[in-house]
Amino acid sequence: MLKGFVGTVQRALINQRKCYASSSAVLARAYSTRPAADNRRLEIDTMSQEANRKINSVFAPPSVLANPMNVPVKLLMGPGPTNVSPRVMQASSNQMLGHMHAETFQIMDEIKAGLRYVFQTSNPWTLVVSGPGHLGMEAVLVNLLEPGDKVLIGINGLWGKRAVDLANKLGASPIPLEQETGKSISLDEIEQGLSKHKPKVLFLIHSESSSGVMQPLVGVGDLCRKHDCLFVVDTVASLGGVPFFMDDWNVDAVYTGSQKVIGAPPGLSPISFGPRAVEVIKTRKTLIKSYLLDMNELTIQWQCGDPSIPRIYHHTPPVNLFYALREALAELTEEGLENVWKRHAQAAARLHAGIHSLGLKLFVQDESDRLPTVTTILVPEGIDWKRVVQFLMEKHLIEIAGGLGPTVGKVFRIGLLGCNATPEKVDRVLQALKEGLEFAKLQGHL
Ligand SMILES: Cc1ncc(COP(=O)(O)O)c(C=O)c1O
Repeated sequence: MLKGFVGTVQRALINQRKCYASSSAVLARAYSTRPAADNRRLEIDTMSQEANRKINSVFAPPSVLANPMNVPVKLLMGPGPTNVSPRVMQASSNQMLGHMHAETFQIMDEIKAGLRYVFQTSNPWTLVVSGPGHLGMEAVLVNLLEPGDKVLIGINGLWGKRAVDLANKLGASPIPLEQETGKSISLDEIEQGLSKHKPKVLFLIHSESSSGVMQPLVGVGDLCRKHDCLFVVDTVASLGGVPFFMDDWNVDAVYTGSQKVIGAPPGLSPISFGPRAVEVIKTRKTLIKSYLLDMNELTIQWQCGDPSIPRIYHHTPPVNLFYALREALAELTEEGLENVWKRHAQAAARLHAGIHSLGLKLFVQDESDRLPTVTTILVPEGIDWKRVVQFLMEKHLIEIAGGLGPTVGKVFRIGLLGCNATPEKVDRVLQALKEGLEFAKLQGHL
C-alpha cells in the first residue's frame, strides 16, 4: 500500500516537473498521515529523484571519462621527472597497504637505510616528506628559521630566488649572495658573506637546474662551523648523480626529489637533518609554522629516534610512492653509488662532445662548474627554441626543455637522470636535436 502511495506522489512530481519547493509541499501533506519511518523512505525516494534530475541537467557524468586514459611512452630527457625503470613502475602498482601496517613500517625503514646511503650520512633524522622538492625546501626552512633569522642564500639561477621568496614568507631575513647566472659561487665569496652578515643559516643550491651549474661544496661546511652557522643544501637535481657526502662535508640539512636521479615518480622529498640542525629545531623559541612539516612530529611517524617509542599517526602518506621509492633505492644500491656517479659523468661527457660536434655551445663556460645531470646549451642565433622542443616531442616523443627563470629563451636543457643516463639515450637525444635544429632552421627561412 505504501508502495502505491509513494508511486502516486512520484508520478505526480514527474508529470508536473515541479521544483524541489513544490515536492516539499507534497511531502508535507503526506507527512501528516504516515508513520515516521514511512515518511523517511518517502523523503529519500523523492529527494533522490530530484537529485537525479538535477545531476542530469546540471552536472551530467562527463563523457570524457568514458574514453580510455591516454599515457604515451615518452623519453623524458628534460630536467625531470625522468623515466622510471620497469621494476619501479611495477612496484608502484602494488595494492594499497595502510600507512600504519607493519609492512609499511618495514618499507619506510628500508627507505631510511637507502637514503642514509645516498646522502652518505648516519643521521637518524633521515626521512621523507610527502610532497615534491619544493616541500623539501619548505621543510628545511620552516623548521630551521624563526622570524627575523638571517639566512644567506646563494643565487645563481632560479632556485636560490625561490628560497628567498620562501624565507620572506616565513618572516625570516634572507640575504642574497648573488652570482652571475651560469657561474658557481667561490669559497672566498661565501666566506665574505658569512663574515659580513653572520647568518644563522647558509643555503646553497648544489644543482642549479635552471642554469646547469654545479656548486662546489667541499670546504663550505667547515666555513659554516667556523662562523657558527648551519649549512643547508638543495640537491634536488643532483643527488645520486654526482658525489655528495653529507657527514664528511659537514652539511647540516639537505633535501632532494624522488623524480630525478633516484628514478622514482614525483611526489616525495627525501630529507636529512644532522645533529646541529636537530638541536636548533629542539631549542626553537617559537612554534614551527607548519603542521605537516613539523619534524618533531613527522620523525615519530618515521620512527627516526628511539625505536622503543611507538610510531604515531601524523598524516596519510602516499604509500604506493613509498613502494616505488624503495625499489628505486634498491636499484641504486645494487648498482653502487660510485658506479651511478660514473655512469652520469660518462653520459654527460658523451652529450657534451656530441653538442660540440653539432656546432653548438654549452652555456656554462667553466668546465668544472658544469652539472652532469642537467646540461644547458645555448640556443643558436636565429633559431626559435620552441620549434625545436616541439619538434622533438611531436616527431620523436622526446622531451627536452627550454630555459627556466633567467635562462628562458637562452638555452635548451637536457637532463641525464637515473635510468636515462646511458650512451644509447644520449645518442637518441642528440640525433633528435640535430633534426630539430634543421627543422627550425628551415622553418625560419620560410
Ligand atoms: C634545484 C631544484 N630545487 C628544487 C626543485 C623543485 O622540485 P619540485 O618540482 O619537485 O618541487 C627543482 C626542480 O626542478 C630543482 O631543480
